[in-house]
Amino acid sequence: MTSKSTTPNLDSGISLLGLGAMGGVLAQRLLELKQPITVWNRTPARADALVAAGAARADTVTDAVLANPVVITCLFRYASVRETLDPVADSLRGRTLIDLTTTTPDEARELGLWADAHGIDYLNGVIMAPPQLIGEPGAQILYSGSRDVYDRVADGLSVWAASTYDGPDPGAASLIDLAMLSAMYQMFAGLFHGAAMAGAQGMTATEFATRAIPFLEPLIAHFAVDAAIIDGGDYTVPGQQSLEFSDLSDIVRASDGVGVDSSTIGAVQALIRRQRDAGFGSEGFARIHESLRSAPKREDAA
Ligand SMILES: NC(=O)c1ccc[n+]([C@@H]2O[C@H](COP(=O)([O-])OP(=O)(O)OC[C@H]3O[C@@H](n4cnc5c(N)ncnc54)[C@H](OP(=O)(O)O)[C@@H]3O)[C@@H](O)[C@H]2O)c1
Repeated sequence: MTSKSTTPNLDSGISLLGLGAMGGVLAQRLLELKQPITVWNRTPARADALVAAGAARADTVTDAVLANPVVITCLFRYASVRETLDPVADSLRGRTLIDLTTTTPDEARELGLWADAHGIDYLNGVIMAPPQLIGEPGAQILYSGSRDVYDRVADGLSVWAASTYDGPDPGAASLIDLAMLSAMYQMFAGLFHGAAMAGAQGMTATEFATRAIPFLEPLIAHFAVDAAIIDGGDYTVPGQQSLEFSDLSDIVRASDGVGVDSSTIGAVQALIRRQRDAGFGSEGFARIHESLRSAPKREDAA
């Protein structure tokens, strides 16, 4: 994408559209730091406290867009972003749009094409923190899209969270966000499955957590070792647990035997089996990466 404007930094003024649980906290943080902002929300009452704290109120989306050179959206889903911005596309021309709404990679790319067609500089942002962590250590926002925009606003945006730029493809930040969430959900599903199995033995989930956390914490750090093996592409590196050793049948049977759904662990077993059936049983467990990344792309899935 080409740059349409001499993109301003955030000191030139921000309009924030969307004051839900997340947008409200983003606005609050800017006000605490005496950053002038204009706010708009579909349900106007949600802006009242922020206006009382010093924000300027925009009664319409057009007023919000025209008030400042940088427009930040934090709405619900992609459809609400387009519903809100489509009617004001002409007013956005020459301005900077930073969309912090969670979108899929293809939605972010589509918004990039839409912005390009209307002469709008666009940066996609994905917030990886709950509202209560905004401005706190550990909060992250991933950005992708216009490098020019990112370079000018990155310092200002760091008041919310540590910023990372993931490249010019607007969809990149969304894909990385979803990859992180995928890892998180599967990790928790694994913990919940373990707790259900131990529960069949009378252990509470809290007791299971007390035992599982010290067992798993050092293993999570070991992911960096597996990651280096995956990147090197050599699954025969000595010291790895082999796929033959990693037979999960006992776990699947024990889970089934106590009436606990074994589909999560069964899915891992299936990934292992594909590599063993292909003759790689003596290679390391990290080789299931090859099972995962060999699925055909589904064009209708994005
Ligand atoms: N909350 C979190 O923990 C969290 C964490 C990371 C990322 N995020 C992302 O941040 C974004 C906002 O989340 P949130 O927690 O603030 O959600 P929320 O509390 O449900 O707020 C949604 C916001 O979107 C507005 N909205 C919904 N549909 C709309 C439409 N059709 N037209 C115009 N405005 C519309 C709502 O306006 P009304 O007030 O009028 O309903 C409200 O301002 C989401 O994309 C979410 O995935 C949230």
